[in-house]
Amino acid sequence: MDTGNGRERWSSRWGFILVATGAAAGLGNIWKFPYIVGENGGGAFMAVYLLAIAFVALPIFGAELLLGRLGNRNVVDSIRRVARASGHDGRWSILAWIGLLAVFVVLSLYSVVGGWTLAYLAMTFADGFVSAAAADTESTARRFTAVTGNPGSAIAWQTAFIVLTAIVVASGVQRGIERLCRWLMPLLLMLLLLLAVHGAVATDEFGRTLRFLFEPQFERLTPGGALAAVGHAFFTMSVGVGAMLTFGSYLPADVGLGRAGVTVAVLDTAVAILAGLAIFPILFASGLEPGVGPGMVFVTLPIAFDGMPYGRMVALSFFALLAVAALTSAPSMLEPMVDFVRERAACGRKAATAAVVAAVWSLGVAQALSFSSWSELGLLGQNLFELSDALASNILLPLGGILIALFVGWMLPSSHTSGELGIRSPWVHRLWRLALRFIAPLAVAAVMLNGLLR
Ligand code: PHE
Repeated sequence: MDTGNGRERWSSRWGFILVATGAAAGLGNIWKFPYIVGENGGGAFMAVYLLAIAFVALPIFGAELLLGRLGNRNVVDSIRRVARASGHDGRWSILAWIGLLAVFVVLSLYSVVGGWTLAYLAMTFADGFVSAAAADTESTARRFTAVTGNPGSAIAWQTAFIVLTAIVVASGVQRGIERLCRWLMPLLLMLLLLLAVHGAVATDEFGRTLRFLFEPQFERLTPGGALAAVGHAFFTMSVGVGAMLTFGSYLPADVGLGRAGVTVAVLDTAVAILAGLAIFPILFASGLEPGVGPGMVFVTLPIAFDGMPYGRMVALSFFALLAVAALTSAPSMLEPMVDFVRERAACGRKAATAAVVAAVWSLGVAQALSFSSWSELGLLGQNLFELSDALASNILLPLGGILIALFVGWMLPSSHTSGELGIRSPWVHRLWRLALRFIAPLAVAAVMLNGLLR
């Protein structure tokens, strides 16, 4: 077997499941998922989301793992090798470049929001915020602006976040990324369960939350909402950017890809649902509405924390959860770039990390300043942060995903794919290929068009 250019491996199947779930379950699950469910009316959105996880995100997730295993190199060289080995043009590797650009942009955004989570954790810890007299939307919004709109503090927290991520990645696949997840994933699960149980026992709103999340009222779902569900399924599973391809290339040879993929999809979805079960009871109990947009966890939730029993403990658990989720996801965006630079420049992991992080940090600084000094800088009335977000979510991620689905679905012979995936049932294998050939590309193309035409 080709052992790769001295590539590291995860320690075991569970090691991989921990890091992949850590990567997938991030700000997308705990910050974004609750507010887009809220904006799109709850249960019906959830139904589309679950279908999209199963028939769009999971098949592409499997395709990325497969490419990583077959390629056994960094993203670009993996795709090139697999394409050539199956008699196709090596230029399919363009899809890997799209992925690298995507993780570069997304990580610069992620480090800004990740910085906010660290700032909120620190503030809550120092009691500078729950005891802020009688919180209302105005005072919590002011607090949010104090974090995001102050150039010095925004840059400092963004820097702290990216430096932590860099230390993890520089320490290695097993000694850095896997070790971080071994420590933090149990903590994430514990905090999440604690907050969900709190929602069930300490508020009277659990029943309403269950109805809100699981009662499919299809009349409340717009076509745009349905596409947002597909787009989010995609983002939350971290597919389309080569992150899972890189992680898949570190899988020990005896691990079946199909089962590992399904496990991660189930765990990632469970984290999103538990986050909903934790957050909505708190909102409902304070008479707050769910459809409040991106400010939900930073502006709206703090109002509730302030007015409830044990509010500070709950707030502390919540912001710790948010920070942990962000910290376990960020390495998966940095690693594909570091792996690429390390192999291509034939340099050490630490040097590669330093070079990549310097670039990501610079773009991140510009993103962070979008909320203060550079808020005027932009195009079409959007600042740099919003433009980058749109570029990544509406163009790069979907494009990468479509190309991966088409490449694996149409270019790789099925004899090539069934063995490695470890899917025993021919029926499931056929369904997977059908999803890659038609369902996923069409659904993701619809998301992309919708994003571009808006
Ligand atoms: N899935 C992560 C989240 O839900 C985000 C992510 C996207 C991570 C792409 C890696 C690659 O927050």
